[in-house]
Amino acid sequence: MILLIGSQKGGVGKSTLCTNLAFFLAKKGRSLILVDGDSQESLSRWASDREESEISPQISCIKKNGRLKATLMDLSQKYEYVICDTAGRDSVELRTALVVSDAIVSPFRPTQTDLDTLCHLENLVEEVKDFNEKLKAFAVLSMVNRSKGKKEEIFARDLFERSNFKLMESFIGDRKAYQKAMGTGESVLELDDKKAKDEILKLCEEVFNV
Ligand SMILES: Nc1ncnc2c1ncn2[C@@H]1O[C@H](COP(=O)(O)OP(=O)(O)O)[C@@H](O)[C@H]1O
Ligand SMILES: [Mg+2]
Repeated sequence: MILLIGSQKGGVGKSTLCTNLAFFLAKKGRSLILVDGDSQESLSRWASDREESEISPQISCIKKNGRLKATLMDLSQKYEYVICDTAGRDSVELRTALVVSDAIVSPFRPTQTDLDTLCHLENLVEEVKDFNEKLKAFAVLSMVNRSKGKKEEIFARDLFERSNFKLMESFIGDRKAYQKAMGTGESVLELDDKKAKDEILKLCEEVFNV
């Protein structure tokens, strides 16, 4: 399965999502590889930190810029799961990965500026579906702060009702644990923030349909 994590915005939690999905699979003993298609390299840095700190299970990551289609197809023959991270904009990496991916998962913070980028992504997915009929498009609400109330979340969920992106039931909260884990080469599933752990488990189960 080729799973693409992409969006038109930076700083929405894409790389963080990649690390947590990867750990979930690795812990279950599934074969997987991360592909870092963002020249900012947050994902490869996370994997290097993990390797240097000798945290088990090890999670392999390769860096690749430019066209990703051939690389992703090749890796999908060798690994059960290929999880690909891309930059927060419309890019060659995003477009060439979309052509071969089974699914795109796109994180959105429940803010107007993030949600404004949905339309462009929807159009892109519609275009790509002419070449890649199997492509499924999912969105997940990211960095949700429920202590501020649910108004923004309700607005976002309503917007996705009319979208070709299916919004995941589960969401990712705004929590320090994600920042901590990203800095130490870990997943929140390895830390002791129960809320973060619970929400990531729910999300992983939804994404991988288990
Ligand atoms: N759910 C979250 N709650 C709080 N901080 C987060 C969360 N997800 C990511 N972050 C932090 O936000 C910043 C951007 O996250 P990142 O995953 O690099 O986003 P992107 O890959 O979309 O640019 C990082 O500092 C990261 O630690
Ligand atoms: Mg990133």
